[in-house]
Amino acid sequence: MKDFSQSASLSPQAFVNQVIGHRSGVNAFSQAKSRGFGEAPVNIALSKYWGKRETSLNLPINGSVSISLPGLGTQTELALSEGKHDQIVLNDHTLEPHAAFAQRLSRFLNLFRPTEHTIFQVDTHNTVPTAAGLASSASGYAALVLALDDLFQWQLSTDKLSLLARLGSGSACRSLYPGFAIWHRGERSDGLDSYAEAIDTTWPDLCIGLLKVDIGEKAVGSTVGMQQTVETCELYQAWPEQAENDLKSIQAAILEQDFERLGQTAEHNAMSMHATMMATWPPILYWQPESVAAMQQVWQLRQQGVAVYFTMDAGPNLKLLFLKQEKPAIMQAFGKIDVIEPFAI
Ligand code: PMV
Repeated sequence: MKDFSQSASLSPQAFVNQVIGHRSGVNAFSQAKSRGFGEAPVNIALSKYWGKRETSLNLPINGSVSISLPGLGTQTELALSEGKHDQIVLNDHTLEPHAAFAQRLSRFLNLFRPTEHTIFQVDTHNTVPTAAGLASSASGYAALVLALDDLFQWQLSTDKLSLLARLGSGSACRSLYPGFAIWHRGERSDGLDSYAEAIDTTWPDLCIGLLKVDIGEKAVGSTVGMQQTVETCELYQAWPEQAENDLKSIQAAILEQDFERLGQTAEHNAMSMHATMMATWPPILYWQPESVAAMQQVWQLRQQGVAVYFTMDAGPNLKLLFLKQEKPAIMQAFGKIDVIEPFAI
């Protein structure tokens, strides 16, 4: 099988030091305020990221395009203190230091500690209703780097913040932007060219419907799922080329406001990604029977002339794509469904 791996030419710490830089001899941590705040939206990939060419820096095998959902995301407040463990409060609950969420956050924060004895007080709120079944790691790490930038007064550009967020969770690099964003795969082994940028356009009639099937924790996390796919799935060989073609097609569809092309490419891209997951060993199947029933309902609606498509991430929930004029038909078909209009004024 083809080897997609690349060696990183920087450690995560050296990468962070490069990105933060030291302006005219000023220490990166010397301007710290008492508190820092950051807020970021969740995003949904229309053309997916699946597979890392390097794991320590989260370097993707392919680029991706997303749309952010306003009002659904994470708000994070940070302060510095001293002690043994970071104090992490998630949705008003203090976490044990050994909780998986806290450990992952603290490992990321290790890259930003002014001294060995510094701890962070983190107060983070997900404004994603748990019932929406959306992953919040993307908005979480984007909000966290914005809070770090505010706390230490770095005033980094958004593409640099995107580079930092990528280290926490790959898809987080796209959550620095409202609206559409493109995450460039990048070529360099130091990962400094793999960040997201805004696609500078709006699409006022575009709607996203959140169709919840199951909101429980997924059995296979995305990092492990991707690694297993890259290592064992024969079908994966075809994925990087399709993903890059889909990315270009989605980008063109967005710029031309060609909804059919957007919907078709996004749904095909999602199904192709899930096909690689299923052809992995051991197999990865995120779908539930209700996911399949919902897909069939979407296909039936299309046969009846309703322009609706879906995309799915590493979970059983569907995200429907449609234009405003189809909203009544969608609401009638699916009943209780949260509809987001990313560009509504
Ligand atoms: O960024 P991660 O490690 O949570 O991976 C995200 C993977 C997908 O959601 C399936 C695709 C994507 O591009 O967001």
